[in-house]
Amino acid sequence: MSEAVMTKQAIEVKNLNLYYGEKQALKEISMDVDENTVTALIGPSGCGKSTFLRTLNRMNDLIPGVRIEGEIQLHGENIYSKNIDVEVLRKRVGMVFQAPNPFPKSIYDNVAYGPRIHGIKSKKVLDEIVEKSLRGAALWDEVKDRLKDRATGLSGGQQQRLCIARALAVEPEIVLMDEPTSALDPISTSKIEELVQELKKKYTIVIVTHNMQQAARISDKTAFFLNGELIEYDDTKTLFSNPKNQKTEDYITGRFG
Ligand SMILES: Nc1ncnc2c1ncn2[C@@H]1O[C@H](COP(=O)(O)OP(=O)(O)O)[C@@H](O)[C@H]1O
Ligand SMILES: [Mg+2]
Repeated sequence: MSEAVMTKQAIEVKNLNLYYGEKQALKEISMDVDENTVTALIGPSGCGKSTFLRTLNRMNDLIPGVRIEGEIQLHGENIYSKNIDVEVLRKRVGMVFQAPNPFPKSIYDNVAYGPRIHGIKSKKVLDEIVEKSLRGAALWDEVKDRLKDRATGLSGGQQQRLCIARALAVEPEIVLMDEPTSALDPISTSKIEELVQELKKKYTIVIVTHNMQQAARISDKTAFFLNGELIEYDDTKTLFSNPKNQKTEDYITGRFG
């Protein structure tokens, strides 16, 4: 055995194809995502980043006319096999969206929502989960005195951290984020970026961003998509400093997209 640290794969994607009706949106995607890393998905609008992200917790199942081929293993288990419980899968693979979407409920009830659905009733246990999740999302100090207030009264950046807390409350293994800062101001954005660095110690993060500087700042690996194809996937430093594919180079130097 070499000295190299063994990296474990959280996700293994093999020959993934996805069709919306006749239109193919993902073409023969194969890539592995390492555990406890931040993986960024970049590429021009419409290249399939969100579609790919949604395949990782079967959110595309909710869209009529979608057909999927290929295989996605989550810690060695094929998530498209017949005996997968999709509710359990979505607990293991949480998601945070572009626009913060708190429920029209209190801060507390937003975070307690998932655990309650999964059967937790004890107030003491819920209190603990709510505090832990809000701390995990770097929001606790800002909201601990107003947990009963409506979540919609928070600032945009706070709402997005609340959505992250809501995702953490069910103890996921993987957190998917689809352009989580594109609706936020620079200060809220940098808070989320710092938070992502913290989160990867416990979780595996896959984040879509159309901001290449952000990908370069926060990710360990970057995948460049174009027209539904995975063009290049490498360590973030290598991909940005020494891309192997001309299309990657053209994109990161701003020649298109
Ligand atoms: N629900 C849908 N139904 C049909 N086509 C879709 C749907 N969602 C996305 N698409 C198409 O799939 C392609 C990839 O879209 P998307 O994954 O949203 O790209 P990105 O997130 O990179 O902007 C686009 O051509 C888009 O129009
Ligand atoms: Mg998108």
